Amino acid sequence: MSGIAVVGAQWGDEGKGKIAHLLAQDADMAVRFNGGTNAGHTVAVQNDDGPNGPEEQEFKFHLVPSGALHNGCTGVLGNGMVLEPLSLAEEIQQLHEARDDRPDVRISAGAHLILPYHPMVERLEGALRELDTTAKGIGPSYQDKIARRGLRAVHLQHPETFVERVVGNVEHFRSLYPNSPELKRLDPRAEAERLLEASQAFGEAISDTIDLVNGALDDGQTVIFEGAQGTLLDVEFGTYPYVTSSYATIGGVGVGAGVPPQRLDRVIGVAKAFTSRVGAGPFPTEDTGEVGERLRGTGENPWDEFGTTTGRPRRCGWLDLVALRYAARLNGFTELALVKLDVLSGFDELKVATAYRQGDRTLEAFPNDAILLEDCEPVYETLPGWSTDITGCRSWDDLPRNAQRYIQHIEDAIGVRISIISVGRASGATINVPR
Ligand code: IMO
Ligand code: MG
Repeated sequence: MSGIAVVGAQWGDEGKGKIAHLLAQDADMAVRFNGGTNAGHTVAVQNDDGPNGPEEQEFKFHLVPSGALHNGCTGVLGNGMVLEPLSLAEEIQQLHEARDDRPDVRISAGAHLILPYHPMVERLEGALRELDTTAKGIGPSYQDKIARRGLRAVHLQHPETFVERVVGNVEHFRSLYPNSPELKRLDPRAEAERLLEASQAFGEAISDTIDLVNGALDDGQTVIFEGAQGTLLDVEFGTYPYVTSSYATIGGVGVGAGVPPQRLDRVIGVAKAFTSRVGAGPFPTEDTGEVGERLRGTGENPWDEFGTTTGRPRRCGWLDLVALRYAARLNGFTELALVKLDVLSGFDELKVATAYRQGDRTLEAFPNDAILLEDCEPVYETLPGWSTDITGCRSWDDLPRNAQRYIQHIEDAIGVRISIISVGRASGATINVPR
C-alpha cells in the first residue's frame, strides 16, 4: 500500500503539478482533494516522438490531477473540490487528447458545483477586490456548501431537483442584492438546462469515490493525493482572511477525499527555493526591489512568476524558513521537494529568513495572526551563492558546493530531508536525492 500526499508548503504555485506528475509515473491513481479552477498546475513533458523531433509539451490543469496525464492512472476529483461543469468538461476532453489510452476519470458525487451566480456573488461581496481572489467563484461555492444550500455533482443526476435549486438559489441572491443587474439578467432555468446538457459529457463519471480510493489502497495500489493552493492559503491555518476557502493542508485529504491519515505513507511538502505569493495579504520576505524582480523574471519565459490561472505577476522574495517550519509542523512532512533552485543561480549571496522581528520581540514561530504578521520584519541569515548554471545537474554530486550547502541549511532549519530537487521546468530536470 502506498498513499503519497503532495502538499503546497507556501502560498501556492510551488510546482505541485510537476512533482505530483513525476511521482505518479508508476501510480495507479491520482486524487485532487481541494480547490477548483483557482488552481493552476503546469506539467511540461519531453516528447521524444514529436512530428519535428523531440519537443516539450505543456499541459495546464485546473481541476484534473496532474498525475492523470499518465496512461493507466485513474484521475479522481474528490468531494472536497468545487467544480465548474463547463471547465470540467473541457479538461476531461483535454485529457482524452493527451493520453494514448482512454482516461478513467471519476468525480465524487459529493463535490460541490460552481454555478453561474457564484462569480457574480464574489464580485458583489467585494472579496475579489479586497482579497484579490482568482474571481472563479470559489469562495461563494464553499459558502453555499457550509450554508447547506450548495449543489453537489450528484444533483446533476437529478435534473428536476437541480433546476429547482438553481432557481431557488438565484432568488436568494437576488433578494440579497436587489440592485444587481447581472443577477437580474440571469435566466436560472436556462442556465441550469445548459449545465445539465454540458455535464452529460462526464455524467457517468460521477460516483462514490470514497470506496474507490480506499479500495485502491486496500489492494496495494499507489495513490497520489495532489493538493491545490498551499499551507499559507489554507482557510484554517493560512494567513486568514487572505486565504482560499478550502483545506490546502494535509487535513484536506481526510475531509476532501475520505481517506484517514494513517493511510498516508509519505507526505511531501513542495516548496520553492524562494517565496512567492499572488493576491493580497501579509508576506514578510516580500522584496519589492531588484531581488524580487529578478526572482519573478520578465514574463518572457513560461516558468517566470506569472499566474497560470489569471496571468497576474506574483510577489516574490527570499525563502522564509519560519513559514516553512510552520508548514512542516502542520503537515507532518516526511520529506520536502525543493523547486526552482535554478532561479537562484548567479546571486552572489542568498538570504533566508530564520526569525521575525516584531517591535522589540523576536518570533521564532509563525504567528497565526495576519495583523501581527503585517508588522513582522524578517531576520535574515546570509549564505554564499553559486554562479554556475545548474539546469543540467541530474545528481546531488553535480550540484555546486554552495547549492548543496543551501539545501543542507534548509534541511537543518526545518528538520525535514529534501528528497527531490527541481532545477528546471521539464519533468527530466530533477534530482532525486538518495535516502
Ligand atoms: P495553485 O494550486 C496561488 C490565492 C488567490 C487569492 C486567494 C483567494 O496553483 O497553487 P480564491 O480565488 O481561491 O478565493 O483566492 O488565494 N490563490 C492562489 N494562489 N496558487 C493557487 O493555486 C491559488 N489559488 C488561490 O490569489 O489571493
Ligand atoms: Mg497557481
